[in-house]
Amino acid sequence: MRQGMSDHRITVLPGDGTGREVALEAQRILDTIQNHSNHGFEQTVIDCGGEHYLATGEEWAEGSFELCKNETDAIFLGAIGYPGARLPNGDLAGGSVILGLRSGLDLFANVRPIKLYDGVPHKIHGGFRQIWEPGMVDMTILRENTEGLYHALLRRSADRAQGREEYEPEPMTFPGIEGEVAYDPRPISRHGSERLIRMGFEIAQTRNGAPSDGVRRVSCIDKSNVTRGCQLFRATFSDIASQYPDTEADYGYIDAFMQWITRSPEHYDTVVTSNMFGDISTDLGAVLQGGMGMAASGNIGDQHAFFEPVHGSAPKHAGQNKVNPIASINSIQMMMDYLGRKNNDDDLVAVGRLIDESVADHLREGKQLTYDIGGTASCSDVGMSIANRLADKLKER
Ligand code: IPM
Ligand code: MN
Repeated sequence: MRQGMSDHRITVLPGDGTGREVALEAQRILDTIQNHSNHGFEQTVIDCGGEHYLATGEEWAEGSFELCKNETDAIFLGAIGYPGARLPNGDLAGGSVILGLRSGLDLFANVRPIKLYDGVPHKIHGGFRQIWEPGMVDMTILRENTEGLYHALLRRSADRAQGREEYEPEPMTFPGIEGEVAYDPRPISRHGSERLIRMGFEIAQTRNGAPSDGVRRVSCIDKSNVTRGCQLFRATFSDIASQYPDTEADYGYIDAFMQWITRSPEHYDTVVTSNMFGDISTDLGAVLQGGMGMAASGNIGDQHAFFEPVHGSAPKHAGQNKVNPIASINSIQMMMDYLGRKNNDDDLVAVGRLIDESVADHLREGKQLTYDIGGTASCSDVGMSIANRLADKLKER
């Protein structure tokens, strides 16, 4: 029996394609922590996703959303998306899972750390080159996760996940535009912006500032020269920034940000942005950190959270045990940090840091890397190697 046990109910949603392979590596990390510490995890695995939909006619078994909502402390999601798997209304099959949880559990912040580890080549020029010194890329982007251009789809997905009638926005007309037209409303609220931006400032307090100058900085990335939603987002940002006088408030437009993040990533510490801009800019961010195989994320709300690699199901690589599990392992790192802070359990926060150190040591040594960062090792080899390092660190304490 573990002494002074802290137990957490973890729901694992492997999903589609490579999501299933990396979910096994995420679970291996949970098992390793459980075997070598006082922290325990009760893991429940639920089949879901587009392929599951094609096979069974449902995105996940009835009651799954409720289990995630009522009987889960944190969720791990592998990936959703299977070629050709669409619902009758054209929406992504599996959307009830990824989008239904984001909206239905009110996970308003999609937190995506972008960090280039020592030993990892970034992906600019498509090659394995190193321009920046290790440590020059170390920022966290917070993407608003319940509103914006995704709002209608998110809302429909959450309704479907809960067996409710699916939301459809009121029809609009557009002067000067005739014939067939499709459109997506982009609501941005003060409340939705405020809670995201506040979390951004709070996360900035836990970081070390920007790599270039150590200044604690939160950057508001929007398109407020053009859209009203972004004007409200920026105005809300300014209000909140004034409550954090020791943190630098920084402003940029999304188009210019795409240049700066590529030219001078070291300027950025914490970034807050709207839903679609965050979706796009974090894929570019992944390039700066060695590719999608390195990109972890947490979808976080006041009551619930789920953690997922950003890479998606990558159908062409599925079934070959070859993708990089580090995005998933680092998503578990974020999960430990979340559970630790939520339960005032400093030891679990420390366990999260040990995962980071295990990943960093593994990459610095550079002996077993997956193909995407220049090696030939398999997904499970990398997962086992990092889990072994973690076990050693947990035992040494
Ligand atoms: C992401 C993905 C999703 C998104 C897709 C799979 C719906 O691209 O998490 O970034 O667009 O949010
Ligand atoms: Mn995306």
